[in-house]
Amino acid sequence: MVRFTGGLLLFAAFTAAAPPDLFSNKHNPEQAVLKPPSKAQPKPRKLQGRFLHITDLHPDPFYESGSDPDEACHHGKGQAGYFGAEVTECDSPFTLVNATFKWIEENLKDQVDFVVWTGDSARHDNDEKIPRSDKQVIKLNRYVVNKFVEVFGKPDNLDDPDPTNDFVVPIVPTFGNNDILPHNIFTPGPNKWTRAYWSIWNKFVPEAQRHSFARGGWFFTEVIPNKLAVFSLNTLYFFDSNSAVDGCDLESEPGYEHMEWLRIQLQFLRQRGMKAILTGHVPPARTQSKQNWDESCYQKYTLWMRQYRDVVIFSTFGHMNIDHFMFQDEKDLKYSFKFESINSDLTGPKTFEPESNAENFTIAAKATYLNELRNEWSELPSPPHGYTYGQSVAHDEVETEKKGKKKKDDEKEYRKFLKAIGGEWGERYSLSLVSPSVVPNFFPTLRIVEYNITGLEDHHPAVGVIGTPAKMADFDVEDALEDSFPEDEQPKSEDDSDEMHDMKKKKKKKGKKKKPKKPGFPVPKPPSKSSPPGPGYSPQPLSLISYTQLYANLTKIHEELEKDKKGADPNKHFDYHVEYTTNDDVYGMKDLTVRSWLDLAERIGRDTLPSAETNDVEDDLGVDQSNPVTLRRHKKGKSKTMKNHLWITFIKRAFVHTKPDEDIEQDFG
Ligand SMILES: *[C@@H]1O[C@H](CO)[C@@H](O)[C@H](O)[C@H]1NC(C)=O
Ligand SMILES: *[C@@H]1O[C@H](CO)[C@@H](O)[C@H](O)[C@H]1NC(C)=O
Ligand SMILES: *[C@@H]1O[C@H](CO)[C@@H](O)[C@H](O)[C@H]1NC(C)=O
Ligand SMILES: *[C@@H]1O[C@H](CO)[C@@H](O)[C@H](O)[C@H]1NC(C)=O
Repeated sequence: MVRFTGGLLLFAAFTAAAPPDLFSNKHNPEQAVLKPPSKAQPKPRKLQGRFLHITDLHPDPFYESGSDPDEACHHGKGQAGYFGAEVTECDSPFTLVNATFKWIEENLKDQVDFVVWTGDSARHDNDEKIPRSDKQVIKLNRYVVNKFVEVFGKPDNLDDPDPTNDFVVPIVPTFGNNDILPHNIFTPGPNKWTRAYWSIWNKFVPEAQRHSFARGGWFFTEVIPNKLAVFSLNTLYFFDSNSAVDGCDLESEPGYEHMEWLRIQLQFLRQRGMKAILTGHVPPARTQSKQNWDESCYQKYTLWMRQYRDVVIFSTFGHMNIDHFMFQDEKDLKYSFKFESINSDLTGPKTFEPESNAENFTIAAKATYLNELRNEWSELPSPPHGYTYGQSVAHDEVETEKKGKKKKDDEKEYRKFLKAIGGEWGERYSLSLVSPSVVPNFFPTLRIVEYNITGLEDHHPAVGVIGTPAKMADFDVEDALEDSFPEDEQPKSEDDSDEMHDMKKKKKKKGKKKKPKKPGFPVPKPPSKSSPPGPGYSPQPLSLISYTQLYANLTKIHEELEKDKKGADPNKHFDYHVEYTTNDDVYGMKDLTVRSWLDLAERIGRDTLPSAETNDVEDDLGVDQSNPVTLRRHKKGKSKTMKNHLWITFIKRAFVHTKPDEDIEQDFG
């Protein structure tokens, strides 16, 4: 294997054949992707350091090519294309789903270690004339399961009695809000949906987790045994639009039980020295106009992420279709215990009055939401002059030329900055990514995430899907004794010497004996003070390194189909190409740790608004990336354009490069 400077891995088999493969092809996104050799994999296969995130497929058996997108692409005459109606609200024709899986089989199958599949594998309830039914929703989900079997199934194992031994790599599915009926409404389990999916997903849900799955549709899979677990959260229990449940504070609610289960499992993984990726359908979006989760669930989630920051690498979602990311900020925690790192200027949580939380997240609402995110990013603590979020350590070395007082002042400023972001690793924040969809509300997309497998070269993706959950009962007893907070008489041990306790001591010294408000639930333990920062924060094995966003330009594909009317196989025109990579010249992210995301967010937030004349932003597809001359011109010349370029690029990527420049100027200028 060869390691490239960008941290990209190539197969030895590729290096002899010179032409770039999918993952080294960032300079020419339009170039067709090479097919890897179809050699039989030696068993067991080695880790490749990549996984696939696929989401929101929305297959629609009633899709009619040539019908009217204003009639859900079911009726009338119009522009609905063979592989889908890009940039409309229509769902996916089977041709698109089939072509996508075929493409995965030919291009990705052997290059990924596991698959994260974050739900919505049935059509929308978007046509009064063709209402959905339980049977139909299940049938569509079965169809997608079969697609995974076709691509990742082990032909020699499919008929053996063990259903969890059927795939070459683990596949981790999740409930979407359209995978049930009526959509959004998921009642406390066990219910008919947990039972139905218990059967459909029997190949995916580890045997040992069948019980927790039956309780509420949540589970985890050890995708790299004893090293890495992927959690499938049932976010429908957190979802504000699910009127059958009521958040995460009441013990009687499934959201409460879900969070308890998560806390206990993460604690268990910490004890085993394992790491975790959390996946779900509905992301924890929370801005002034848009809040997806019930606030009580958001609060717990933010707290859990804070406390298990040594275990959880990041979390990733679908549902919103726009490509973006968000932070959870410990500063928004309402619980009155404070964290040492930032307590001095805690202002408490924002109050929310979401204006509209309608299921139809309109283009205008999306624009508002993204502008709000940017406003939040513009308020991130500013690094002092000469420093950035991107440089994580060794700032002293960087600044050695400076002498005396100037140097001291600089260092003081930098330390103040570090304190404001929760220390050297930005641990005040945790990270959630949102992948755009296969359903072509914009263009169909797939995400390939690269992660660090240094030192894990001899490990393998789980073959039989395994996952040993902690026994709830065992932990309940122990936790009830040790974890309830605050506990003045709690014995001191290494694990207890965390920020909360330090804070308590401080308060006592000041003579303020005010007791913090009891959260009323077991608070997760923080990492022990001696444990190093987790892979979400400092680059190490299992840290994310980059991702590659792929898209299929349906407009172009349909144009080619049109020209090639006599062509036998429409599939030969179908292709996914690189849209962008996070380590390209525009985002320039050296890895995907929290500080790298903060750096990007801060750079986007800091962008000055362009004046009309300087707003000659170039597309970052094609020209910008493939032509170093253009890039050099940009770098030397108009810094204002270059700066704003980042925000505009973020927006273009959010909408998978389907939004016309005029619209971007109008909504985001
Ligand atoms: C899609 O693939 C399935 C097999 O997985 C096949 O039965 C079906 O006919 C295909 N549909 C189209 C439109 O190609
Ligand atoms: C979208 O939701 C808003 C707010 O609930 C509603 O007023 C509007 O009619 C909806 N639009 C469509 C196309 O359903
Ligand atoms: C991967 O982890 C190793 C070991 O911690 C580290 O040396 C290396 O820099 C990491 N790679 C990247 C690209 O972050
Ligand atoms: C998609 O294809 C159309 C038609 O060829 C082209 O005009 C457009 O620029 C392409 N868009 C992207 C993002 O590749």
